[in-house]
Amino acid sequence: MSDTIESLLDENREYIASDHFQENAQYQDESIYETASRDRLAFWEKKASDLAWFKKWNSVLEWSRPYAKWFDGGQLNASVNCLDVHLESRKNKTAIIWEGELGEVRSFTYESLAKQVNKLAYTMRQTFGVKKGDRVTLYMPMIPELAISVLACARIGAIHSVVFGGFSADSLRDRIEDSQSKLLITADGGYRRGEIVPLKDITDSALSKGCPSLESVLVVSHVGREARIHMTEGRDYDYHDSIADAPHVCEPEKMESEDTLFILYTSGTTGKPKGIKHSTGGYLTHAKYSTRAVFDLNDDDIYWCTADIGWITGHTYLVYGPLANGATVVMYEGSPDYPDKDRFWSIIDRHNVSIFYTAPTAIRAFMKWGDEFITKHDLSSLRLLGTVGEPINPEAWIWYHDVIGGGNCPVVDTWWQTETGGIMITNLPGLNVMKPGKAGLPLPGISAAVLDQNGQPVTHGGGLLSLTEPWPSMLRGVWGDDQRYIDTYWSKFNTYFAGDGATIDEDGYYMVLGRVDDVLNVAGHRIGTMEVESALVEHKSVAEAAVVGMPDDIKGQSILAFVILKTGQHDTPELHAELIQQVCDSIGPIAKPRAIVCASDLPKTRSGKIMRRILRNIAENKEVGDTTTLGNPAVVAEIVVSFKATFQAAL
Ligand code: WTA
Repeated sequence: MSDTIESLLDENREYIASDHFQENAQYQDESIYETASRDRLAFWEKKASDLAWFKKWNSVLEWSRPYAKWFDGGQLNASVNCLDVHLESRKNKTAIIWEGELGEVRSFTYESLAKQVNKLAYTMRQTFGVKKGDRVTLYMPMIPELAISVLACARIGAIHSVVFGGFSADSLRDRIEDSQSKLLITADGGYRRGEIVPLKDITDSALSKGCPSLESVLVVSHVGREARIHMTEGRDYDYHDSIADAPHVCEPEKMESEDTLFILYTSGTTGKPKGIKHSTGGYLTHAKYSTRAVFDLNDDDIYWCTADIGWITGHTYLVYGPLANGATVVMYEGSPDYPDKDRFWSIIDRHNVSIFYTAPTAIRAFMKWGDEFITKHDLSSLRLLGTVGEPINPEAWIWYHDVIGGGNCPVVDTWWQTETGGIMITNLPGLNVMKPGKAGLPLPGISAAVLDQNGQPVTHGGGLLSLTEPWPSMLRGVWGDDQRYIDTYWSKFNTYFAGDGATIDEDGYYMVLGRVDDVLNVAGHRIGTMEVESALVEHKSVAEAAVVGMPDDIKGQSILAFVILKTGQHDTPELHAELIQQVCDSIGPIAKPRAIVCASDLPKTRSGKIMRRILRNIAENKEVGDTTTLGNPAVVAEIVVSFKATFQAAL
């Protein structure tokens, strides 16, 4: 490790792909940046032409801020682009190598994957009456049936809404209700660190409180008899039994380029998550292009993205992007430390993974676990590494590059969001010098800027990150809430406001610092502070709550909750446990607070607004700062004492 720190300090060390990598890279010519910016629309039109269309578009872009139409008039189908187009040249090529947490492996060729997708698509359409535009919620473990369900929805033009399997019954119900889903696909359970997550029981609990739009539930039998599940007659059907007799062919729906392909809920600054809408043609154009460009994908690569399909990274870089490129994708069900902390390295070794894409939180955990888990495996198949989801500290970047990559794999640090649909800022691995901790340059075709508070571009230094021209995979709105789309992304600047702070250096490299709004990034997962606060105030003992992020060595940030108890309630360890449980029940374990700090009041302005800045400073162990605008300055000292006491107890 000391070598790593020394090399970090070595400013002369240059990180660039090897000559061999550069000479064989998909993108070798720097002029691509210039070509793309000179005529952006021509550039994107060319990328769209890499897809198979039933009908060509009439116009590349119609832009009426903040609404974009890309490739309008064109017709295509995403599942055709991920499957049918490969059935001539890659029929027997492996599409998915799936490994379960228990160690079993299931592989699908493009032909066998297409067969499964067609059978399910046919069944959804014919047996369950799912039509183009209907919503289907997928609440599933990371099993092949999840990827199959995504593609089957795309085939019949149903809009999928994948809900991450770590969300609670309440979160699931909110999302089913908001999207007005007609069908839900789940499983009897999933494995997580050797335990069974009872997805069907959670589904039952979500549906017991009423989801009137939902007509049917398909249940994949995955964990077998161990999970004793209840099937409601007339509503619940076994997935495999239902598709058993379906034909292998299901006519794909001809989708308009602008038809919604999926919605994916993400946290924002209110208590209610928003359903981000993505289009078919524009989204897939960028998914296909960016996967090839950023991961330098070749036909013989074995590509592994560790993200769950429940998040946008899994949508774009596990399913749509790699499959549209005809890649071989590894998909793993479980956690990196089961049965031991070398599971990922064992997967890379056994399946000869050549491209590996994961999150900084995982990288920092691997660093902490120690190199012995890594050195016992052969990782020489790797040739490219990627990271996503949160800022990566230079030390973790260099460790990733040197230890996992053996010093000879370029690292792409990719900045993007659920809303952007695909990667926006990163280096092209065969072209650019890499700077540890900096994501790099906007991808060819993407325009970005760091803006000051007045919306003026900053040439060097810090400000707010904005994407300054529409791009094909941009969100098309918030499901059922146009105003929220406008308010969140288009009211601060004339151009798209990403909600992140960033710096830009003299070479035009961006470093993304993190959220500047009330959204936390915990282990790469977005969590709205308001969502956690709403969960806490649902508890009978809580009068008010304020949630802030606290620095965390591994997860980047963890959640710290300040609460005011109602009169007569006592601050006890049992109550803390109940409040933490309340958040898990209301949102899911991913939003579990690291600690609860009780106080008699929260710092407020004279008009009663909570001053989170002060709470953030306390959580970050910084000077509290100016308290003169507070209506109740005396409370600050009490909170600091309570924080220190509680936090020591929590450690
Ligand atoms: C953060 C995940 C720094 C950022 C694809 C963004 C990053 C939020 C990076 C989106 C990165 C993502 N460097 N920060 N390379 N990638 N972020 O919607 O704050 O789950 O706004 O999409 O993650 O999270 P989301």
